[in-house]
Amino acid sequence: MYILGISAYYHDSAACLLKDGQIVAAIEEERFSRIKHDNAFPYQAIDFCLKKAGISSVEVDFVSYYEKPLLKFERILETFVDSYPSSLLPFLKGMPEWLDYKLKVEQTIRKLWFKKKIFFTPHHLSHAAAAFYPSPFTKAAILTIDGVGEWQTTGLWKGNGKNIDLMKLTNFPDSLGLLYSTFTAYLGFKVNEDEYKLMGLAAYGKPIYKSKIQSIVDVRQDGSFKMDMDYFGFRESFSMYNARFIKLFGPSREPRNKIIKRHADIAASIQALTEDIYFKILNHLYFLTKTDNLCLSGGVALNALANGKIYKNTPFKNVYVLGAAGDSGAAFGSALFTHVNILGNGRGRKATIKTLYFGSDYSDNQISNCLRRHSLKYKKFTDDHELIRQTATLLAKGKIVGWFQDRCEYGPRALGARSILSKPNPRRMKTKMNLIKLREQFRPFAGSILQDKVHQYFDVPEKNAWSPFMTFCFPVKKEKRRDLAAIVHADSSCRIQTVSKDNGRYFALVDEFYKQTGIPCVLNTSFNLKGEPIVETPEQAIGDFMKTKMDCLIIGNFLVSKSSDKG
Ligand SMILES: [Fe+2]
Repeated sequence: MYILGISAYYHDSAACLLKDGQIVAAIEEERFSRIKHDNAFPYQAIDFCLKKAGISSVEVDFVSYYEKPLLKFERILETFVDSYPSSLLPFLKGMPEWLDYKLKVEQTIRKLWFKKKIFFTPHHLSHAAAAFYPSPFTKAAILTIDGVGEWQTTGLWKGNGKNIDLMKLTNFPDSLGLLYSTFTAYLGFKVNEDEYKLMGLAAYGKPIYKSKIQSIVDVRQDGSFKMDMDYFGFRESFSMYNARFIKLFGPSREPRNKIIKRHADIAASIQALTEDIYFKILNHLYFLTKTDNLCLSGGVALNALANGKIYKNTPFKNVYVLGAAGDSGAAFGSALFTHVNILGNGRGRKATIKTLYFGSDYSDNQISNCLRRHSLKYKKFTDDHELIRQTATLLAKGKIVGWFQDRCEYGPRALGARSILSKPNPRRMKTKMNLIKLREQFRPFAGSILQDKVHQYFDVPEKNAWSPFMTFCFPVKKEKRRDLAAIVHADSSCRIQTVSKDNGRYFALVDEFYKQTGIPCVLNTSFNLKGEPIVETPEQAIGDFMKTKMDCLIIGNFLVSKSSDKG
């Protein structure tokens, strides 16, 4: 049985195809359109999924859409009426999109020759399914938390077998995601894109504005909260905040302006308050469910800094955060909810998802044709071990290595399929990598560490230091900070991906690097340049490789270096 999940029209549109409940293919539209966080209907992602399965749209049994468009439209209308007349302009501007296509999802899907039933899963239920069903738990507490779905912004759920039951919810406009995004915009970063920058910046500041933020956000002991909408603009204007907000916090930062201490302090303050609210909600969720297992989903669940502190600040002992926790993953969640719950198939024995390599891959032939077109010097390996050994040696020598292997990752993180890698020390490797990626120097890099060595390097919970999707930051042990100097952030933490045999060739590489250097960790950043989505094709990888000072590129079975001589 084939079920196609679709998310679209907000951000990170994606498609995911299930065959008998297992993912055949899943990918974001941005990888094809090359528009970062593309919110268009994911025609190309759908086409890719069908091709990967070798089927046509008429062979798909069900389509599952990640939210209920009519309910979302109801929120738009009610918000317009509530905020009239100041909401008139954004309303008029947004209306054609709603009338032209956002309300016509079913017609759009039908035009692609999907003949059978289409399900519309509530947005937060799609997130909850994406969080719980692929987890290793039969019973778990589930928190879904994001900007906004139809109305809902937060959901406290209980998962048991195939059932997911809502216990408590928060509705728009009170939204932890929108609160965080408001400060993202205020500090001159892009909403729904640069929240990571705010999180990175927080480490350089002190939370001295926290009480000021609390003066406009009333937080109760159970984590529920009310935002004073007199200070926010997102209901009735194109701006997340308004003049009163600026009067309270001072002038906002323009993107071109330098970052000063006040900006870092504000970032630290909103991060601290976000964590306060997050842990209050989670503690309340524990009180309601009394289970040690927790699943998280929604954009806020990508706040790895907060996630890493869950073990210390709540009673939860096992936490699962799928890498595709944002709206792209909701395409998967919606399809899986249809499979497991609506069609009553149960979760199956192979349900736990440990890796996210569900995107495109390319043959040696396709890659070598591309290399020849660019007159690049390359070497082809027939011995896998030799490829791994030589790549690890290059890393050990301090080379910056482009790494393009296997099927690309579903979700926002590069997890060793489309990555740029280097050794994790000395500190200047960070500067070198930031220059290649054209990123701000304050932004930290993540590390991929062997699962069985993670306790030696990080202050992690005794049994459950599992972070296969890079969704947790943990403090680096003091004695190891020199070994990981290029990835230790200003607050001594690091976002980590734990790597095991599930990661195939990438595991072999990190393991070989460990054998050669004694350090079981590499710096891992996504294979893309500033403002662009992660590379999808060999052509794009080679393009980035040529444009930057990357030293070499390991693409499939080929090692490429920069010279016009052919190998
Ligand atoms: Fe969402």
